[in-house]
Amino acid sequence: MIVPLNEFEIKKSTGKNFKKYLVLQNEILQYPICVYRFDENRYEALLMKCTHQGTELQVFGDKLQCPAHGSEFNNRGDVESGPAIASLRIFPVTIADGQLKISLK
Ligand code: FES
Repeated sequence: MIVPLNEFEIKKSTGKNFKKYLVLQNEILQYPICVYRFDENRYEALLMKCTHQGTELQVFGDKLQCPAHGSEFNNRGDVESGPAIASLRIFPVTIADGQLKISLK
């Protein structure tokens, strides 16, 4: 899956800002992917599937929360509060030619 890096840009009269994250729908997986941007070379692509019982997560800034039983994950996919105990699935990303490639395998 390929995302142009300029999708993170927010253009302002005073210059550029960047979104902290993008939520990407896709047809291959049953859940969206949340891509966090840390800086121009560092991104983290997380599957928005709760590792407790598989409910789709919701993004709140730097956190992903589960509406089912309240588990919380940080923007690296680590559990911050349970009942979930396993980290979120992370997809490898590579950057080339102004594009972010996310390997969904
Ligand atoms: S399914 Fe997410 S906390 Fe239970």
